[in-house]
Amino acid sequence: MSPLGCSLSRQLVLIILAAVSHAAFYEPYNFNALKHLGRASPYFELLDSQPASPEAPQGCTVTRASYLTRHGAINVNDDDYEDWIQPFLSKWANHTGTDWAHVAPLSFLADYKTPFPPGADTPEQVTKIGEMEAIELAIDITLRYPHLRVPSRVWASAPPRTFDSGKAFVRGLHTEDHPVDLVSVVEGNLGGANSLVPYQACTIYHEGNDEASTYRELFTKPIKARYNALAPAYNFTTTDIVGMILLCGYESVIRGQSPFCDPALFTPDERLGWEYADDIRYHYDVGYGNPLSGTIGFPWLNVTANMLMAESADEDIYVGISHRTLPSMVFVAMGLFNNSAFGGTAASINDTMPLDRINPRRAWRTSEITPCLGNLALERLSCTGSYGFDDGNYYRALVNRAPQALPGCTDGPGTSCSESGFLKFLQEREAMFGGFSERCQVDYDNSTDTVSFYHSI
Ligand SMILES: *[C@@H]1O[C@H](CO)[C@@H](O)[C@H](O)[C@H]1NC(C)=O
Ligand SMILES: *[C@@H]1O[C@H](CO)[C@@H](O)[C@H](O)[C@H]1NC(C)=O
Ligand SMILES: *[C@@H]1O[C@H](CO)[C@@H](O)[C@H](O)[C@H]1NC(C)=O
Ligand SMILES: *[C@@H]1O[C@H](CO)[C@@H](O)[C@H](O)[C@H]1NC(C)=O
Ligand SMILES: *[C@@H]1O[C@H](CO)[C@@H](O)[C@H](O)[C@H]1NC(C)=O
Ligand SMILES: *[C@@H]1O[C@H](CO)[C@@H](O)[C@H](O)[C@H]1NC(C)=O
Repeated sequence: MSPLGCSLSRQLVLIILAAVSHAAFYEPYNFNALKHLGRASPYFELLDSQPASPEAPQGCTVTRASYLTRHGAINVNDDDYEDWIQPFLSKWANHTGTDWAHVAPLSFLADYKTPFPPGADTPEQVTKIGEMEAIELAIDITLRYPHLRVPSRVWASAPPRTFDSGKAFVRGLHTEDHPVDLVSVVEGNLGGANSLVPYQACTIYHEGNDEASTYRELFTKPIKARYNALAPAYNFTTTDIVGMILLCGYESVIRGQSPFCDPALFTPDERLGWEYADDIRYHYDVGYGNPLSGTIGFPWLNVTANMLMAESADEDIYVGISHRTLPSMVFVAMGLFNNSAFGGTAASINDTMPLDRINPRRAWRTSEITPCLGNLALERLSCTGSYGFDDGNYYRALVNRAPQALPGCTDGPGTSCSESGFLKFLQEREAMFGGFSERCQVDYDNSTDTVSFYHSI
């Protein structure tokens, strides 16, 4: 080969190598719309973004655990349906003259069939996928703790979406020789802290004031402009855009897929705009922005910590199934997903969720912490021969399977905390958030600050 040819082919090799190593060095950009849906997020585990090991730390075994779980995926939340989805679908059904072929990403709307059965009066039913995921979580929990007794009872709030999630969960535990009871926990305005919906019994609790509307208008503005340039007569509104984004989530858990999740409809940044607007909403509804969140979440933490620390207990694994609200408030009671944890103060917490721009480093991410079936676990670990740590009991929290360090309570192996540290943690949280009936200014005289339903037969 001529010297010239040789140098050319060497050049080629270099080019090819560069191309190959380019592919090996960098992962392609990947965006999964289903993981950024806020309130309508289907279940996923958190281990991708928070990879601390879910296994018990070296030398430790879990000896008792308690789970608090949001209900599984439902057809649609009634408010989401009434406020956003139904208005969008009704307008779409009325605009029979629209030539969807001109609105390319939405061309499927020319012959779209909605996933909601006509005249369905129970839109909040758990879907088949939601049931399947609840069964799977139950099986997964028994696999996590093969040495613990399978629960003989599971507690679920009474309404269909929580109770039916409980039924599915129980199917995942139940065997011929091990029946499992599903206990219905009554909801109501007079139950004090003793239910899986204590916020209903907190007289002065109310949700935020739609602080999310500013960002909702901001992120939808360019989307509306884009679609209105394609179909001016349709006059796309914020309601239409939000309706379509929510449909991506709900239709996916009914049909297993949805054309509204197609990347051609909304860019990743647009979907992140929706996610942030929802995070603002729940910051003020059930998170750090609501002064009552920690108070309403504390009784669950208190009973759970006491059940874990007790000498003996009826169950090795406790499971309670509720709505998004309760786990969110328990996160606040425990100081988890606190945007200010590594800088800032309690007083500046609202500044961490600006209304007009995204805080990309926030810890409070609804999609990740309270998807459907989202779950919080507290575990008691017995450790012997964990190098560098005394033998004894340690405590650990996991959210959607990802371990979470307790604030000021990290003196154990892995992400765990010693028993004395855990007691101190509990006392600190009680000092911040104890006194449910008083702080809620309950207007009935038989209230209670403690949870006792786990002990009823
Ligand atoms: C669609 O048409 C029905 C019947 O005329 C009407 O009641 C409804 O308000 C319309 N919906 C929208 C969103 O325009
Ligand atoms: C208080 O009394 C009402 C009415 O009998 C009852 O529904 C409620 O559960 C009671 N609350 C507690 C905390 O026992
Ligand atoms: C478009 O819809 C918005 C919101 O409903 C309304 O305020 C506005 O008047 C409509 N514009 C046109 C041109 O119909
Ligand atoms: C959140 O973190 C800040 C800063 O550490 C702290 O002052 C505040 O008490 C925390 N909030 C809660 C509810 O734990
Ligand atoms: C955050 O904002 C809410 C709603 O305006 C308010 O009730 C709460 O007191 C604020 N929190 C702090 C720490 O200022
Ligand atoms: C926490 O639970 C314990 C044990 O049930 C109880 O004695 C105590 O009063 C509870 N604390 C609060 C603040 O409710």
